[in-house]
Amino acid sequence: MKIQRLTTENRPKVYALLRGAFPSSDYEAALVQKLHDNGRVIHEWVCIHTGKAIAYIAFTNAYHGRDICGLHLAPMAVAPEFQGRGVGSELLRFALRQEAISSQPLFVLGEPGYYSRFGFEPCRVPICPFDKNNAHFLSMRNATATSFVVGYEPEFTTAAAPTGTTRSRKRGRR
Ligand SMILES: CC(C)(COP(=O)(O)OP(=O)(O)OC[C@H]1O[C@@H](n2cnc3c(N)ncnc32)[C@H](O)[C@@H]1OP(=O)(O)O)[C@@H](O)C(=O)NCCC(=O)NCCS
Repeated sequence: MKIQRLTTENRPKVYALLRGAFPSSDYEAALVQKLHDNGRVIHEWVCIHTGKAIAYIAFTNAYHGRDICGLHLAPMAVAPEFQGRGVGSELLRFALRQEAISSQPLFVLGEPGYYSRFGFEPCRVPICPFDKNNAHFLSMRNATATSFVVGYEPEFTTAAAPTGTTRSRKRGRR
């Protein structure tokens, strides 16, 4: 499987992948597009197979106030027809080995049963603003001792549906 950094040219393929992997939600595709449009720091990799993006992973800055305190893993997606074949695991393990990622505190809002396979553990602090009681919020290399609400890039909020529908559990996931 060929994993590569996402190029500007391949961005539309990733938006299409995200719409396919999250069929009932435009949030993830809109989020990544806004992060790109606004020039946010984003560490991202993609698997291109026969001209299509079949898997994607992104990390963006996590904040304690104005200070960067780690990286959020979000979103991550595998095209439906390639799910359950180990593609997501391979991409995530690859990303976790990369220099920009391998020594940073990491946070993810997602299924504990999935992310615990890769070294993520339940996170007590900081508090995730998109998850009640941090039930689906996990971290790695997180030495936080005090309680604060971890910050995300503003696009994580502004990419939400303008109708104001509460989608807090999904926001920021994968
Ligand atoms: C979640 C996702 C990134 C995983 O990628 P993938 O390539 O399908 O995963 P893998 O094939 O590497 O899976 C490895 C293992 O994790 C398990 N797994 C996959 N999704 C899981 C989940 N949500 N919770 C717990 N375990 C999960 C698989 O069953 C597999 O187990 P096995 O090794 O015992 O067979 C991918 O399925 C995806 O993009 N899904 C779309 C978004 C989605 O469905 N989200 C779920 C609700 S938010």
